[in-house]
Amino acid sequence: MSIEAALDLLACPRCGSGLAVAPSGGGRALRCTREHSFDIARQGYVNLLEGPEPGNADTAAMLAARTRVHASGLFEPVADQIATHLVGRPRVLEVGSGTAYYLVRSLGDDDAGVGIALDVSKAAARLAARLDPRVSAVVADVWRTLPIADHCLDAVLCVFAPRNLAEFARVLRADGRLVVVTPKPEHLAGLRDRHGLLEVPAGKADQLAVAAAEFFEPLARTGLVRTREVDAALASDVIAMGPNAFHRVPQDVAGGNLVVAVDTQVFRPLPV
Ligand SMILES: C[S@@+](CC[C@H](N)C(=O)[O-])C[C@H]1O[C@@H](n2cnc3c(N)ncnc32)[C@H](O)[C@@H]1O
Ligand SMILES: [Zn+2]
Repeated sequence: MSIEAALDLLACPRCGSGLAVAPSGGGRALRCTREHSFDIARQGYVNLLEGPEPGNADTAAMLAARTRVHASGLFEPVADQIATHLVGRPRVLEVGSGTAYYLVRSLGDDDAGVGIALDVSKAAARLAARLDPRVSAVVADVWRTLPIADHCLDAVLCVFAPRNLAEFARVLRADGRLVVVTPKPEHLAGLRDRHGLLEVPAGKADQLAVAAAEFFEPLARTGLVRTREVDAALASDVIAMGPNAFHRVPQDVAGGNLVVAVDTQVFRPLPV
């Protein structure tokens, strides 16, 4: 979509001032009051990363596999749970958004909703830019100052993605919500045992709760565990969409029972 819908929420990654759309060469760019300029790609996303894409950015092949997995409904209970926490919160940032599946689900049927899909992967931004007219896609690194204005968002969403808690607190309104989903150790059990996938370390949700206490007050924590039978094609896509794909996707993936097991935590910023 047009990046225009999110203009009030975006900030120059170099100086933090506001951005406006300006002509640039044959195309368009976002330009700040100090003349820093960032081209809007022909596919509709804007690259505010100012540097090379890191090695852990999702690839187009991983994103294609992730899209098929989401289309299968495997993660629908997770999306439903997230969406319940974001009702009536129209300005939402999803960090490490990948296919922006959870972001779009969270905007629901609110025509006035504005979603920003932020990912360090250009392939992800390309995909998110054409997903839903309410979504603006931005390439940026969650570990740097986010290219977002102070205290302007109703919600930040972070699902299986890196967390910069100080920055999440800076961009959220005083009554905003941070929703974070982390995998439990048994997440993707079945597949993990059959194919020796990377382990999920225990205690992720507890570690998040401890780290978040510096900036946030906890409001809710819900666990979700679902087992579903998946066929070989879906099982293969689940491997191909995740970090194991950076190493290798096994050839002989079999179907079987698959566990989806996550913790969802909701926080609100501490008063400043
Ligand atoms: C495991 S995927 C999760 C994607 C999506 N949230 C989902 O659950 O479908 C992690 C995502 O974080 C992105 N990512 C990794 N490092 C990042 C960083 N430093 N800044 C922004 N995004 C990052 C990857 O490109 C990838 O799309
Ligand atoms: Zn600037």
